[in-house]
Amino acid sequence: MESLTFSIALLILLLNSFAFSLNSYTDKNALISFKNSITSDANAILSTNWSQNTPVCNWIGVSCGLKHGRVTALNLSRYDLAGTVAPHLGNLTFLRYLDISSNNFVGMCPFELSKLRRLKVMNLGANSFTGEIPTWLGSLPQLEELYLSNNSFLGKIPSSLFNNSKLQTLQILYLHSNILSGSIPHVIFNVSSLRKIGIGNNSLSGRLPIDMCNNMPNIKFLSLSWNHLEGQIPSNIWKCTHLEKLSLSHNNFSGSIPREIGRLSMLTELYLGYNGGFQGTNISSFFYM
Ligand SMILES: *[C@@H]1O[C@H](CO)[C@@H](O)[C@H](O)[C@H]1NC(C)=O
Ligand SMILES: *[C@@H]1O[C@H](CO)[C@@H](O)[C@H](O)[C@H]1NC(C)=O
Ligand SMILES: *[C@@H]1O[C@H](CO)[C@@H](O)[C@H](O)[C@H]1NC(C)=O
Ligand SMILES: *[C@@H]1O[C@H](CO)[C@@H](O)[C@H](O)[C@H]1NC(C)=O
Ligand SMILES: *[C@@H]1O[C@H](CO)[C@@H](O)[C@H](O)[C@H]1NC(C)=O
Ligand SMILES: *[C@@H]1O[C@H](CO)[C@@H](O)[C@H](O)[C@H]1NC(C)=O
Ligand SMILES: *[C@@H]1O[C@H](CO)[C@@H](O)[C@H](O)[C@H]1NC(C)=O
Ligand SMILES: *[C@@H]1O[C@H](CO)[C@@H](O)[C@H](O)[C@H]1NC(C)=O
Ligand SMILES: *[C@@H]1O[C@H](CO)[C@@H](O)[C@H](O)[C@H]1NC(C)=O
Repeated sequence: MESLTFSIALLILLLNSFAFSLNSYTDKNALISFKNSITSDANAILSTNWSQNTPVCNWIGVSCGLKHGRVTALNLSRYDLAGTVAPHLGNLTFLRYLDISSNNFVGMCPFELSKLRRLKVMNLGANSFTGEIPTWLGSLPQLEELYLSNNSFLGKIPSSLFNNSKLQTLQILYLHSNILSGSIPHVIFNVSSLRKIGIGNNSLSGRLPIDMCNNMPNIKFLSLSWNHLEGQIPSNIWKCTHLEKLSLSHNNFSGSIPREIGRLSMLTELYLGYNGGFQGTNISSFFYM
C-alpha cells in the first residue's frame, strides 16, 4: 500500500515536471519564433542575448513567475527592433505584461494574441502597426491598460470592442496619433472603469453624447483634441467629477461652453482652443461655481 502511494506520488511528480518542461518548451518556442520574425535588430540585443543555451528567464526583456517559471512579462521597449509580430507570441499564456513600444513593428496585430487571457497591459505604441483595431481585444478578461497610440491603425473604433462586460477592467485607453475615422462609439463612455482616454490626433468626427459623463466616475484624463468633432460640449461634463485634464482643442466644437465646467474641482488643465467658435461665454463666471 505504502509503495503504491509512493509510486503514485512519484508519478505525479514526474508528470508535473514533464508538464513543467513542456510548458517551458512552449514559452521558449514562442520567443524563438518571435525573434525569428524580427528583421532588424540594430543593437544586436536579441541576436547576442537571446541565446539558445541560456534559460529564457535570463533573456533580456523577459521576466518569469517565481513559482511556475513561465514567462509573465516581455518588455522590449526602445530596442530599435523591426519586423512583424509572430503569432506564436499568443502561446505565452502566462503573459501579463507586454511592452514592445517604440520600435518599428509593422503589419497587423496577430489574432493569436487573443489567447493571452492573463494579459493586463498591452503596449504596442509608437510602431507602424496597421489594419483595424482588433475587436478581440475586448474579450481579454484581465486587460487594464491598452496603448495603441502613434501607429497606423485605421478605420472606425469598433464599438464591439466595448460591447463586452469583460472589458470592465480597462483603465487606460490610448489610441491617439493613428488614422482612425468615423464617430466615437458612445459605448466608450459607458466603460465606467476608465481613468484615462487619449484618442486625439485622428480623423474622428460627429458629436459627443449629451449623457457622456453619466457613467465615467473615474475618468481623470480625457483628450479628444486634433480631430473633426463638432457640436456642443455636453453640459453634464461636471459629472466626470475626477477630471484633471480635459483637452478638446483643434476640433469644431461650438455653442456655449457649459458653465458646469467650473464645478470640476480637480481640473488643472483645460484646452478648448482652435474650435468652431464658442459664443456668449463669460469665462470668469465658471470660477464662482
Ligand atoms: C542577457 O542580458 C541579461 C540582462 O542584461 C544578462 O543578465 C545576461 O547575462 C545576458 N545573457 C547573455 C548570454 O548575454
Ligand atoms: C520597460 O522598459 C522600459 C525601457 O527600458 C522601462 O522604462 C520600463 O520601466 C520597463 N517596464 C517594466 C515594467 O519593466
Ligand atoms: C504556438 O503557436 C503557433 C502559431 O500560433 C502554433 O503553430 C504552434 O503549434 C503553437 N504551439 C507550440 C507548442 O509552439
Ligand atoms: C511616434 O513613433 C515614431 C517611431 O515609430 C517616433 O519616431 C516618434 O517620435 C513617435 N512620436 C511620438 C509622439 O511618440
Ligand atoms: C452588443 O452586444 C449585444 C448583445 O450581445 C448585441 O445584440 C449588439 O448587437 C452588440 N452591439 C454592437 C455594436 O456590437
Ligand atoms: C499626429 O500624428 C502624426 C502621425 O500620425 C504625427 O506626425 C504628429 O506629430 C501628431 N501630432 C500631434 C499634435 O500629436
Ligand atoms: C450604458 O449602460 C447603461 C446601463 O448599463 C445602458 O442603459 C445604456 O444604454 C448604455 N449606453 C450606451 C451608449 O451603451
Ligand atoms: C464646423 O461646424 C459647423 C456647424 O457648427 C459647420 O457649419 C462647419 O461646416 C464645420 N466645419 C468643418 C470644417 O467641419
Ligand atoms: C461674468 O461673470 C461674473 C461672475 O458671475 C460677473 O461678476 C461679471 O460681471 C460677468 N461679466 C460679464 C461681462 O457679464
